[in-house]
Amino acid sequence: MKNYLQILKDFEAIAGPIEPHAQVLKRYASKLQRWSSLFAKAFYDRLFSYEETARIFKEEERPERERSLKTWYERTVSGEYDDDFWKWQYYRVGIAHVARGIPNEFVVAAMSFVQRAFLEKVKEEFPPDEGARVYLAFKHVTDAIVALISAGYMNSYLSGISTSTGMSLQLIERHAVLIAKKEYERANQSD
Ligand code: HEM
Repeated sequence: MKNYLQILKDFEAIAGPIEPHAQVLKRYASKLQRWSSLFAKAFYDRLFSYEETARIFKEEERPERERSLKTWYERTVSGEYDDDFWKWQYYRVGIAHVARGIPNEFVVAAMSFVQRAFLEKVKEEFPPDEGARVYLAFKHVTDAIVALISAGYMNSYLSGISTSTGMSLQLIERHAVLIAKKEYERANQSD
């Protein structure tokens, strides 16, 4: 099972290095961090207005959730990324959602919401060329976080199945490949 550093290495090899984008965010970090309350409110207005996501939260939980999201956003736009930052995204941010039974596609969709809200704000506050650079930097870093969270989600499920059934990870993978081949063939036959 890959650890968070290997997942990140794969992401950079496929999508491109993070450091140039980190430099862009670092240059504007203090300005971007001032938007944290705005995003935290918009984010939870959206999640609390959709029944499927609203029912995940306890009634009194919103202030704490907004604080966590503000901290997450402020660290993410800081441009300062050491091992602890990526480890935190994988083990704390990612696994916290698995532990609450939140489907990964909800987190991916929520990240898409954050990226779009960020773009809207950048368009208001930056000239077009610099705005495009700032948006692409934020998108690249948050896409890397999505890769970590998604891999962590699958790893948690695989570990869970392996521990509870005694099946090795290799055996689980072989079964998954076999089932996928059958589903793929069935889908092709019905075309
Ligand atoms: C861009 C996507 C998201 C980000 C960046 C994010 C960020 C965070 C962070 C930083 C924490 C605190 C983790 C910790 O330090 O313990 C957290 C916890 C939590 N998030 Fe999210 N979140 C996202 C999406 C969602 C979605 C879509 C839901 C529900 C539909 C959700 C529900 C929760 C809940 C219930 C907790 C508390 C977990 C616990 O019991 O400790 N989050 N989130």
